[in-house]
Amino acid sequence: METFVSHSTEETERIAGQIAARLHKGDTLALYGEMGAGKTAFVRGLVGALCPECLPLVHSPTFAIVNEYAGKDLTLYHFDLYRITDEDDLYSTGFYEWVGGDGIVVTEWSELIESAIPENAFKLTIEKGEGNERRLTLC
Ligand SMILES: Nc1ncnc2c1ncn2[C@@H]1O[C@H](COP(=O)(O)OP(=O)(O)OP(=O)(O)O)[C@@H](O)[C@H]1O
Ligand SMILES: [Mg+2]
Repeated sequence: METFVSHSTEETERIAGQIAARLHKGDTLALYGEMGAGKTAFVRGLVGALCPECLPLVHSPTFAIVNEYAGKDLTLYHFDLYRITDEDDLYSTGFYEWVGGDGIVVTEWSELIESAIPENAFKLTIEKGEGNERRLTLC
Protein backbone atom coordinates (compact mmCIF):
# COMPACT_ATOMS: atom_id res chain seq x y z
CA MET A 1 0.00 0.00 0.00
CA GLU A 2 1.24 3.46 -0.87
CA THR A 3 -0.17 6.85 0.09
CA PHE A 4 0.18 10.20 -1.70
CA VAL A 5 -1.15 13.54 -0.53
CA SER A 6 -2.21 16.09 -3.13
CA HIS A 7 -2.94 19.77 -2.57
CA SER A 8 -4.17 20.70 -6.04
CA THR A 9 -5.66 19.27 -9.21
CA GLU A 10 -2.27 19.66 -10.91
CA GLU A 11 -0.57 17.69 -8.14
CA THR A 12 -3.13 14.89 -8.51
CA GLU A 13 -2.38 14.84 -12.25
CA ARG A 14 1.37 14.66 -11.54
CA ILE A 15 0.90 11.76 -9.12
CA ALA A 16 -1.17 10.00 -11.79
CA GLY A 17 1.63 10.57 -14.30
CA GLN A 18 4.07 8.80 -11.96
CA ILE A 19 1.66 5.91 -11.46
CA ALA A 20 1.08 5.64 -15.24
CA ALA A 21 4.72 4.63 -15.65
CA ARG A 22 3.99 1.45 -13.66
CA LEU A 23 1.00 0.36 -15.73
CA HIS A 24 1.31 -2.25 -18.46
CA LYS A 25 -0.89 -3.80 -21.12
CA GLY A 26 -3.71 -5.80 -19.56
CA ASP A 27 -3.70 -3.93 -16.25
CA THR A 28 -6.85 -2.63 -14.62
CA LEU A 29 -6.80 0.36 -12.29
CA ALA A 30 -9.99 0.69 -10.25
CA LEU A 31 -10.66 4.16 -8.85
CA TYR A 32 -12.75 4.71 -5.71
CA GLY A 33 -13.96 7.99 -4.26
CA GLU A 34 -16.98 10.20 -3.93
CA MET A 35 -18.28 12.76 -6.42
CA GLY A 36 -15.69 15.48 -6.93
CA ALA A 37 -12.94 13.43 -5.27
CA GLY A 38 -10.72 13.85 -8.32
CA LYS A 39 -11.08 10.56 -10.21
CA THR A 40 -11.34 12.26 -13.59
CA ALA A 41 -8.48 14.62 -12.68
CA PHE A 42 -6.41 11.52 -11.93
CA VAL A 43 -7.34 10.00 -15.31
CA ARG A 44 -6.28 13.27 -16.98
CA GLY A 45 -2.84 12.73 -15.45
CA LEU A 46 -2.71 9.16 -16.77
CA VAL A 47 -3.71 10.35 -20.23
CA GLY A 48 -1.10 13.12 -20.09
CA ALA A 49 1.52 10.42 -19.69
CA LEU A 50 0.10 7.80 -22.07
CA CYS A 51 -1.61 9.83 -24.80
CA PRO A 52 -0.97 13.59 -24.46
CA GLU A 53 -2.78 14.34 -27.73
CA CYS A 54 -5.92 12.76 -26.20
CA LEU A 55 -6.04 15.26 -23.30
CA PRO A 56 -8.85 17.41 -24.75
CA LEU A 57 -11.08 14.31 -24.81
CA VAL A 58 -10.86 13.53 -21.10
CA HIS A 59 -14.13 13.81 -19.16
CA SER A 60 -16.21 11.49 -16.96
CA PRO A 61 -17.78 9.15 -19.53
CA THR A 62 -21.04 9.07 -17.59
CA PHE A 63 -23.33 8.88 -20.60
CA ALA A 64 -21.04 7.06 -23.00
CA ILE A 65 -19.87 4.73 -20.16
CA VAL A 66 -16.46 4.42 -21.85
CA ASN A 67 -13.97 6.79 -23.44
CA GLU A 68 -11.06 5.41 -25.42
CA TYR A 69 -7.71 7.21 -25.56
CA ALA A 70 -5.42 5.60 -28.14
CA GLY A 71 -1.81 6.35 -27.30
CA LYS A 72 1.27 5.46 -29.36
CA ASP A 73 2.05 2.38 -27.31
CA LEU A 74 -1.16 1.65 -25.48
CA THR A 75 -4.87 2.41 -25.43
CA LEU A 76 -6.53 3.53 -22.22
CA TYR A 77 -10.19 2.55 -21.74
CA HIS A 78 -11.80 4.95 -19.25
CA PHE A 79 -15.04 3.60 -17.80
CA ASP A 80 -17.56 5.36 -15.61
CA LEU A 81 -19.56 2.67 -13.82
CA TYR A 82 -21.93 5.17 -12.18
CA ARG A 83 -24.92 4.21 -14.33
CA ILE A 84 -24.16 0.51 -14.65
CA THR A 85 -26.80 -1.52 -12.89
CA ASP A 86 -25.55 -5.10 -13.28
CA GLU A 87 -22.96 -7.27 -14.99
CA ASP A 88 -25.14 -7.81 -18.11
CA ASP A 89 -25.33 -4.09 -18.53
CA LEU A 90 -21.56 -3.85 -18.17
CA TYR A 91 -21.04 -6.74 -20.61
CA SER A 92 -22.84 -4.78 -23.33
CA THR A 93 -20.31 -1.92 -23.03
CA GLY A 94 -17.44 -4.23 -24.04
CA PHE A 95 -15.88 -4.02 -20.59
CA TYR A 96 -15.03 -7.72 -20.42
CA GLU A 97 -13.33 -7.58 -23.83
CA TRP A 98 -11.01 -4.80 -22.73
CA VAL A 99 -10.20 -6.04 -19.23
CA GLY A 100 -6.96 -8.02 -19.41
CA GLY A 101 -6.67 -7.16 -23.12
CA ASP A 102 -3.93 -5.23 -24.86
CA GLY A 103 -4.73 -1.87 -23.29
CA ILE A 104 -5.24 -0.49 -19.80
CA VAL A 105 -8.68 -0.24 -18.19
CA VAL A 106 -9.39 2.46 -15.63
CA THR A 107 -12.76 2.62 -13.87
CA GLU A 108 -14.53 5.41 -12.00
CA TRP A 109 -17.17 4.37 -9.42
CA SER A 110 -15.64 0.91 -9.03
CA GLU A 111 -17.42 0.55 -5.68
CA LEU A 112 -20.79 0.31 -7.46
CA ILE A 113 -19.92 -2.96 -9.21
CA GLU A 114 -17.06 -4.38 -7.20
CA SER A 115 -17.78 -7.91 -8.52
CA ALA A 116 -16.63 -6.80 -11.99
CA ILE A 117 -13.22 -5.58 -10.82
CA PRO A 118 -10.52 -8.21 -11.49
CA GLU A 119 -8.80 -9.61 -8.42
CA ASN A 120 -5.39 -8.50 -9.65
CA ALA A 121 -6.49 -4.91 -10.34
CA PHE A 122 -4.60 -1.98 -8.86
CA LYS A 123 -6.95 -0.03 -6.61
CA LEU A 124 -6.70 3.67 -5.96
CA THR A 125 -8.90 5.38 -3.37
CA ILE A 126 -9.16 9.17 -3.32
CA GLU A 127 -10.39 10.75 -0.08
CA LYS A 128 -11.24 14.41 0.25
CA GLY A 129 -9.63 16.37 3.07
CA GLU A 130 -9.80 20.06 3.94
CA GLY A 131 -10.16 22.31 0.90
CA ASN A 132 -8.09 20.99 -1.99
CA GLU A 133 -6.36 18.28 -0.03
CA ARG A 134 -6.79 14.73 -1.30
CA ARG A 135 -5.34 11.53 0.10
CA LEU A 136 -4.63 8.92 -2.58
CA THR A 137 -4.08 5.34 -1.47
CA LEU A 138 -2.79 2.81 -4.00
CA CYS A 139 -3.05 -0.94 -3.34
N1 LIG B 1 -6.13 17.99 -4.97
C1 LIG B 1 -7.10 17.89 -5.89
N2 LIG B 1 -7.09 16.84 -6.76
C2 LIG B 1 -8.07 16.71 -7.67
N3 LIG B 1 -9.12 17.53 -7.82
C3 LIG B 1 -9.17 18.59 -6.97
C4 LIG B 1 -8.17 18.80 -5.99
N4 LIG B 1 -8.48 19.93 -5.31
C5 LIG B 1 -9.60 20.40 -5.83
N5 LIG B 1 -10.04 19.61 -6.84
C6 LIG B 1 -11.28 19.84 -7.60
O1 LIG B 1 -12.15 18.76 -7.35
C7 LIG B 1 -12.88 18.44 -8.52
C8 LIG B 1 -12.55 17.01 -8.95
O2 LIG B 1 -13.36 16.73 -10.05
P1 LIG B 1 -13.32 15.37 -10.83
O3 LIG B 1 -14.25 15.55 -11.97
O4 LIG B 1 -11.93 14.95 -11.10
O5 LIG B 1 -13.96 14.38 -9.72
P2 LIG B 1 -14.55 12.94 -9.93
O6 LIG B 1 -14.09 12.15 -8.74
O7 LIG B 1 -14.22 12.41 -11.27
O8 LIG B 1 -16.13 13.19 -9.79
P3 LIG B 1 -17.39 12.41 -10.48
O9 LIG B 1 -17.66 11.23 -9.59
O10 LIG B 1 -18.48 13.42 -10.44
O11 LIG B 1 -17.00 11.99 -11.88
C9 LIG B 1 -12.46 19.45 -9.59
O12 LIG B 1 -13.37 20.52 -9.55
C10 LIG B 1 -11.08 19.87 -9.11
O13 LIG B 1 -10.73 21.17 -9.53
MG1 LIG C 1 -15.33 11.74 -12.86
